[in-house]
Parts: sequence; structure tokens; C-alpha cells
Amino acid sequence: MLQIGALRSTPWVLAPLAGYSDLPFRLLCRGHGAGLVVSEMISCHGLVYRQAATMAMLRTVPAERPVSFQLFGADPAIMAEAAAIIAEQPVDCIDINMGCPVKKVTRRGAGAALMANPDLAEAIISAVVGRVRLPVTVKIRSGPNGQQLNAVEFARMAEGAGAAALTVHGRNWAQGFAGNADRGVIAAVKKAVAIPVLGNGDITSLTEAREMIADTGCDGVMIGRAALGNPWVFQETGRPQNLAGIAAGAQQHLQLIEQFLPAARLLGLIKNHLCRYFRGLPGCATLRQQIFATTTLADLQTLLARLSRAASPPPPSR
Ligand SMILES: Cc1cc2nc3c(=O)[nH]c(=O)nc-3n(C[C@H](O)[C@H](O)[C@H](O)COP(=O)(O)O)c2cc1C
Repeated sequence: MLQIGALRSTPWVLAPLAGYSDLPFRLLCRGHGAGLVVSEMISCHGLVYRQAATMAMLRTVPAERPVSFQLFGADPAIMAEAAAIIAEQPVDCIDINMGCPVKKVTRRGAGAALMANPDLAEAIISAVVGRVRLPVTVKIRSGPNGQQLNAVEFARMAEGAGAAALTVHGRNWAQGFAGNADRGVIAAVKKAVAIPVLGNGDITSLTEAREMIADTGCDGVMIGRAALGNPWVFQETGRPQNLAGIAAGAQQHLQLIEQFLPAARLLGLIKNHLCRYFRGLPGCATLRQQIFATTTLADLQTLLARLSRAASPPPPSR
């Protein structure tokens, strides 16, 4: 059991995934066994200026709890203000992004750039912790680059500043997503701090997640890319073996998107997700083309219904 402040969950956690881990996807992953789900990263400035699109990202429903909302930014006062806005919602945790390598984020000193600026990182964590009663967690990498693997000192600093847990993605900032995630750094951080540590990087099944816990001693495992188009990654049996099961899962995802997201964005969002469902199946390139060629939601629904029927075994003869 993973415990972060008052939050208790199984150890399998859906990672923050910009463009993907919105409310429908979080609900889907919770339904398939994720213990805790984390939102996409949310701009502290967008929240403080109460921009409509950013505020919409705060939408939550009780069924997805426990849920954590992730903030990014580089200004301690604004981060604290934004955290207070998140804390007005019925959420369980606030996570601070100190691992994102995307230039749009790092050139403003946020995300992984904070690993190269521990003093500012400390000021941000202290400011946020001082402002909200919710547990505040921090997501980090192994360091700014291969020569400066400072995750252990950084983790101790974060713990000292009041972080309630840490996630360690076993790659450095300079690596982006290249190479393999290093479990050694996760183990080293786990040894160095008393707060819970989540391991992250390259996990594609619960079997691998258990191996990561065994290898590193970490308290939970965060799964990102392997959940895209595959919310079943959080359950023991994994992804369905046949096209019908996968198409049915995609239909369920489409329904949740229709239920919770604004109509104007529906088609683009669902296409983004749907293409990933059919990865690795025979004919998946053709399927992807068919999905992208649809211009209305109704066409997409018809296509999915046809796929699940076509792939189903024939009804028993009388
Ligand atoms: C499309 C995409 C979006 C991501 N968005 C975020 C984000 O918003 N915040 C964050 O901390 N990490 C983000 N990440 C990083 C993941 O949370 C995770 O740390 C990384 O993908 C490694 O885990 P994995 O190998 O299980 O995918 C993103 C990764 C991807 C592929």
C-alpha cells in the first residue's frame, strides 16, 4: 500500500502525460486498476490568471480519487498561489514538475531546469508546502546531465523542504527520453530519504513494476507511455488478446471523452488516443489511416463498432 500523507492507494500510479492524462483517461485508468492518477502538467500562470482553458484542466469527479494535480512553473510565489487554487478542488495531492525536458518549459527555468537550480527548486517546494494543507510531491530526474547526477542531494533537499513523496524518472534532463531508465538512481534516492519514493521509467506491465520495486525498494511505480492506448497495463491480465476487446476499450474511452470534454476538442483528442490502441495489431497502419480520415464523431463510433463486431467470434448457430 502506498501512503502519501493521508492519501492511500495501491502502488501503481498513472504518470502525468501532457495531452493525455485528462479526466476521461484518468477515470479509465482508475477503472482498470491504477491506484493513483496524476493530471497533465498545469501552468501556474494559467491558473493564477484564471485562464479558461487552464481552469478547465482542474475538473475532477469523485470516482477518480485519489487524484494528484501537477503544477509547473519557476516562480515560488506564483506556484504557491496556483497550488492554493488547485486546493480549492476536491483533490488529494499536488505534484510539482521538476522533470519535464520540453524546451517550452525549461527555457523559463521550470521542469527539469530546476534540477540545475536546487536553490530555486527549494524555494518553490517550501512556498507550495507552506501554502496548502495537501501533501506536496515532487517529480524529478536523475540530474541535469550525465556529469551532474544530483538526484540524491536534490531528493534530500526536497524532503527537507517538506515534500511528502518523490517520483524519480531514471533519466537525466539531457537524455530526454533516450537510453534506458536507470534503476540505480531510484534505489539510491530511496535509501537517502524517509518519504515514499515512486520509481518511473520504461515500465510496461505489472510484472515489470514489481521487478522495479524488488530492484530498488521503491514504494510505488509510475507508468506513463505504456498506458497510452493501453489502460489495461494497470491490471494483471494486461491488454485484451483480440481486436474486439481492444475496440471495446477504445469505445469506452470515446464515451468518457464525450461525457467530460468540450465538444469542440473531442475529435482531435480521441484520435490522438485511439491510434495508440491498435499499436502492434495486424493491419494497424490501415486502421490508423481510417481513424484519422474520419471527420465526425458518428463516423468514428461506427468505425469502432464495426471493428468490435468484425473481430467478434460468430454468434452460436441454433
Ligand atoms: C506524451 C508525454 C507527456 C508527458 N507529460 C508529462 C507531464 O505533463 N508532466 C511530467 O512530469 N512528465 C510528463 N511526461 C513524462 C512521464 O510522466 C514519465 O516520466 C516518462 O514518460 C517516463 O515514464 P514511462 O517510461 O513510463 O513513460 C510525459 C511523457 C510523455 C511521453
